[in-house]
Amino acid sequence: MKFDTPATTNPIDRLKVVGQPLDRIDGPFKTTGTAPYAYERHGVAPNQAYGFVLGAGIAKGRVNAMDTAAARRAPGVLAIVTTLDMPKLEKGQTNAAALFGGAEIQHYHQAVAVVVAETFEQARDAAGLIRVDYARQPGRFDLAAEARHAPLVGGDSEEGSGAPPEDRVGDFEGAFAAAPVKLDETYTTPDESHAAMEPHASIAAWEGDRLTVWTSNQMIAWGKRDLAKTLGLKPENVRIDSPYVGGGFGGKLFLRADAVLAALGAKAAGRPVKLALTRPLVANNTTHRPATIQRIRLGATRDGKITAIAHESTSGNLKDGKPETAVSQTKLLYAGANRLTSMRMAEMDLPEGNAMRAPGEAPGLMALEVAIDEMAERLGMDPVEFRILNDTQEDPEKPGRRFSQRQLVQCLRQGAERFGWANRNFRPGTRREGRWLVGMGVAAGFRNNLLTKSAARVRLDGQGVVTVETDMTDIGTGSYTIIAQTAAEMMGVPIGKVVVRLGDSDFPASAGSGGQWGANNSTAGVYAACVKLREQVAQKLGINSADAVFEDGQVRAGNRAAPLGQAAGPEGLSAEDVIEYGDLAKRYQQSTFAGHFVEVGVDAMTGETRVRRMLAVCAAGRILNPKSARSQVIGAMTMGVGAALTEALEVDTRHGFFVNHDLAGYEVPVHADIPHQEVIFLDEVDPVSSPMKAKGVGELGLCGVGAAVANAIHNATGIRVRDYPITLDKLIERLPEPA
Ligand code: MOS
Repeated sequence: MKFDTPATTNPIDRLKVVGQPLDRIDGPFKTTGTAPYAYERHGVAPNQAYGFVLGAGIAKGRVNAMDTAAARRAPGVLAIVTTLDMPKLEKGQTNAAALFGGAEIQHYHQAVAVVVAETFEQARDAAGLIRVDYARQPGRFDLAAEARHAPLVGGDSEEGSGAPPEDRVGDFEGAFAAAPVKLDETYTTPDESHAAMEPHASIAAWEGDRLTVWTSNQMIAWGKRDLAKTLGLKPENVRIDSPYVGGGFGGKLFLRADAVLAALGAKAAGRPVKLALTRPLVANNTTHRPATIQRIRLGATRDGKITAIAHESTSGNLKDGKPETAVSQTKLLYAGANRLTSMRMAEMDLPEGNAMRAPGEAPGLMALEVAIDEMAERLGMDPVEFRILNDTQEDPEKPGRRFSQRQLVQCLRQGAERFGWANRNFRPGTRREGRWLVGMGVAAGFRNNLLTKSAARVRLDGQGVVTVETDMTDIGTGSYTIIAQTAAEMMGVPIGKVVVRLGDSDFPASAGSGGQWGANNSTAGVYAACVKLREQVAQKLGINSADAVFEDGQVRAGNRAAPLGQAAGPEGLSAEDVIEYGDLAKRYQQSTFAGHFVEVGVDAMTGETRVRRMLAVCAAGRILNPKSARSQVIGAMTMGVGAALTEALEVDTRHGFFVNHDLAGYEVPVHADIPHQEVIFLDEVDPVSSPMKAKGVGELGLCGVGAAVANAIHNATGIRVRDYPITLDKLIERLPEPA
């Protein structure tokens, strides 16, 4: 189905099932241990041996030699494959760092060997007996030092966030120089780790040339393509299966070493091999969110109109990596005639930087939305009003190009009302409750909406059961449920009559889970397949599909009615289709908007920050399931608190690795850390986005939150910290005297 004109009325608009706050279908499996992690899929292949990955102990250089003799003699060892046994493997299309093979070491904990043994302990023990002789070379590990000579580099995150190396509209320098009120500040965000509950893990089995990998991956089609490319296999000989994913956050968008080394280990051992990356390897062997240095300059008139806006970001990455696209939202969020955005990328030798939890906007808004708060303060304006005054209804770089929907002002107004913003003290550091300095902060949330093709197959059997198959993944987001809701709505059956099967590369290729595009696109693919299936049902009954009504398990036309199962007949019916998009995304800017409100208490003695309550007001198209969407958003808000207060990979700039590579040292907040989280979805239906009229919402829930926390801390204490995360050591020296 080609979607190239805005949607009109369709069966989804009935909203009998879609739009209802249904429980997640996989919820009971998740809570009863029957939705296994990849590593726990003991039944998929018999006789599984255990793999253990050895990571490089240097960050840059070469492997001269590896002595595996002692490891090979160790109890239970079945096979060892070292990086010197292989040529440098091909890289997948989405991989910057090489995953295995050859002598070159590009980053710390790059995989240098896989040991396969009868038990995990035996494999780990033997891996410890491998002697590696390295030739270490000096590396570049300090972003601040490298940033000084970083060249301009454009790029995108593969998630719809992106920018050219430099973009200019009007005369930024002239307008900035002439502006009566100015701001010029620099903000830094640290390297961060996805820290999914489930580490990267795979089970691999060979049948001749055919490879099956049961794994934990967000993007099945990318994984299949890149695994075939890396191992030199025909794509049709590779199958990937990932029905449940214990969190991805961007870290599982790509093929990683677990899948490659499980496959190589299985080949060498002649047995299926299961393998999980240990927690330290997750931090240093896989990808992470790269640190940024962001300079923002704003110029405004005395009555608060932005006249000049510049956002320049520098991040680091391996040679073939991309910049963090932190400036992308600045191109679209506020009006202002004179604009400059630029990105620089320093080549560095740390592990690969790549997409994590709303790449681009999430770290970008942590700078922009604090700068906006600072500017409002300089102008003596309320920060909600300052944002509203500078709203734009068209793409500020391309006048005349409209947003498909844009309710930022409504998000801010409703949020302010609901949150009790009027009770906020304008003057910071003036509200004290016992030992707590209390403050409120606000930020705008912004994330683009991506359209990307997505296919599905839908079968109808003689009992009227509808089975949906697509390689879409459910990474804890609710895909099973919204896909079932879509099929139920389209075919007019209760949700209990729908079976959803996901995550298998034998199924039609979907949009996958990334960039908050999964919900809208994958359900639109199911919609397309259901339209075809409805036509088949109608044809079989000899009725015009335009007249057919699918409702209550029946199909009706005029005064004729038949149960759906009967219409399908004993052989059943099957339809497959793909939703493909025209140029609507070019003609309209499709974005999602939020107002984020946060109240914090900062301990007046210790500088410890506690988030007391949070509110997100989101405008993101039709909400397919308000319950699972709310869960997405409150999870994202919690991650935003992590970005603001605790999450940072600490770089050892001498040896080039992330030191706090486990969940003891890398601190991630949980829901229990935040007593009150509220989410409001504005009524919005976006006919430009897809037949579902939905958009993404998961990442929107994160974008802007970190800034709202930082702004609340400033309101509570009067202290501006521009260097994230805002740990208490950055506050304690500057706190007001505790009277
Ligand atoms: Mo992406 S960072 O997996 O949405």
